[in-house]
Amino acid sequence: MAQIKNIGVFTSGGDAPGMNAAIRAVVRTALYHNIQVTGIRRGYEGMIHGEMGPMDRKSVSNIIQRGGTILKTARSDGFKTVGGRKMAYNQLVKNGVDALVGIGGDGTFTGARIFGQEYNIPFIGLPGTIDNDLQGTDFTIGYDTAINTVIDAVDKIRDTAESHERLFIIEVMGRDSGLIALRTGIAAGAEAILIPETKNNITALFDRLERGRKDKASKIVMVAEGEEAGGAFEIGRQVKEKYPNYDTRVSILGHIQRGGRPSCMDRVLASRVGVAAVEALLAGRKGEMIGITHNEITYTPFEHAVKHHVDINPNFLKIVEILSL
Ligand code: F6P
Repeated sequence: MAQIKNIGVFTSGGDAPGMNAAIRAVVRTALYHNIQVTGIRRGYEGMIHGEMGPMDRKSVSNIIQRGGTILKTARSDGFKTVGGRKMAYNQLVKNGVDALVGIGGDGTFTGARIFGQEYNIPFIGLPGTIDNDLQGTDFTIGYDTAINTVIDAVDKIRDTAESHERLFIIEVMGRDSGLIALRTGIAAGAEAILIPETKNNITALFDRLERGRKDKASKIVMVAEGEEAGGAFEIGRQVKEKYPNYDTRVSILGHIQRGGRPSCMDRVLASRVGVAAVEALLAGRKGEMIGITHNEITYTPFEHAVKHHVDINPNFLKIVEILSL
């Protein structure tokens, strides 16, 4: 096994608070082990076009507390092609990069798996997505911050909902996953949670509204973006049609969920997996995502990390039903 001399680090896909803390951890750990680091800008897209340069300990100063990603991020169509990946590999060789750490989610690791089959370059992934929808880690970098952003917003909406005695349908992010909606729904005291992992959501919601207390001043319904009925506006339309007496409003939280200072939990998670990524490369590991499961560092092959099989804990939905009496 050739000794690693220069690790390329990049962020890819949707940004997530804590990505900067992860970049910092990778850079500082590599330097600690006397390995050079190359920062690749704009994810795979920047890799294809050679947007990369050396990083030192100062280039990651004062970023642990910042949201977004200093390396920028992108979703790359070019990297989905054989020619694009060849260009990316040639740029890595040209810049002396002989190992990679990619911070991202599903698309990032799908690209990493294919690249690893085509080219012999050790590649380690770190889970960076607010959606928490990766196998092989209890939490992804950005999820904790995002759910706290959601709670902050929903608490504010609750104030006005209570004053006006309204029913609010609130949409949160999660194109393929209801994990943001599920946890924040419990924390916000929601009446019901509608997520892509469950079927017949509208029927269940109507049932809930029928059986629930009619005298409540405010009602909150949490909806994940990828929910089967088509999102909060469609659900709002159907609720208004069936219950014209409810004063119903729809609120879509959108991209505020992806921004902001990372929480303490996200900074620590990012720092731990960032250190572990470099140590994994030094130990000869590749083709794996580093996560933390039951407080231990774990290694999950890329193909298992991206399966979209993160199970929904049915107890969470039951808790909502019991507590929203
Ligand atoms: O980062 C994942 C995610 O938050 C999804 O839940 C959401 O559908 C998507 O990003 C939206 O991202 P964009 O607006 O950047 O395409």
